[in-house]
Amino acid sequence: MLKLARGTTEIRSSQATFLVKTIKYFVLPFCAFVQGKILKVRWRHHADRRAFNWDWKSCNFNRVAAVNLLLSKFDDPIYLEIGCADNALFDSVSCTKKVGVDPASGGTMKMTSDEFFFQNETEFDVIFIDGLHTYEQVRRDVINALKFSHVNSWIALHDMLPRNWVEHHVPCISHGAWTGDVWKVAFELSKTEGIDFKILKIDRGVGIFKVIKKDVVMADFTKELRGQEFSYFYENLNSLPVTEWNTARQWLS
Ligand SMILES: C[S@@+](CC[C@H](N)C(=O)[O-])C[C@H]1O[C@@H](n2cnc3c(N)ncnc32)[C@H](O)[C@@H]1O
Repeated sequence: MLKLARGTTEIRSSQATFLVKTIKYFVLPFCAFVQGKILKVRWRHHADRRAFNWDWKSCNFNRVAAVNLLLSKFDDPIYLEIGCADNALFDSVSCTKKVGVDPASGGTMKMTSDEFFFQNETEFDVIFIDGLHTYEQVRRDVINALKFSHVNSWIALHDMLPRNWVEHHVPCISHGAWTGDVWKVAFELSKTEGIDFKILKIDRGVGIFKVIKKDVVMADFTKELRGQEFSYFYENLNSLPVTEWNTARQWLS
């Protein structure tokens, strides 16, 4: 009797495991796939056939390499990361004085970047901006990051190089990578006085700049950029300082 009951419990638990795995690996991805298709139809008036064929995996360098290189310039650096998610970068950063801000998961401060900067009093040596990937939010994050940096601080931004209109689109319709329209800030940073800015052609585009003057005021092209879609990025990319890793490494040293 006891054996029979145990056998029934085992069958039930293996059925439950099967159900959870089916939902996790088939139902949820399928729903996300269908939702992505529906959203692409909904936003088809923004569709653009043109695309870049950058293969991020094949370049063998990523944001972790870039951030650790920046940190290596300081004896005992203070690091800030905006948007930490599962701490893939945050835990790979070797310095001991580090603050991670994320309202959902990871880092050390569970709050939005706006809330963090409102109450912050620390000046940082290296800041990595990778929170909400919309132009308006990233613009605000850069302005706030500048307030809490010093001459010789380095500020980096992830996801500056979308490959196609889906990766770029705001609101997010991507089933995979989503850069959002962070790239718009690159056009402003490339014209901002008092910083030295480049975009490393690695890991979906890592924008990096050094603060070289006090009280930097970021160039403001909001009126021109706000309504722009992927076509603007595609057609004007050659005016941005996009740099291969080897060249960037010399610049960073
Ligand atoms: C792309 S993930 C960050 C990945 C991480 N930096 C890394 O390299 O592994 C973006 C994160 O930003 C967070 N986020 C969204 N809005 C935010 C905000 N307003 N302030 C700070 N973080 C935000 C999300 O919760 C998410 O975890």
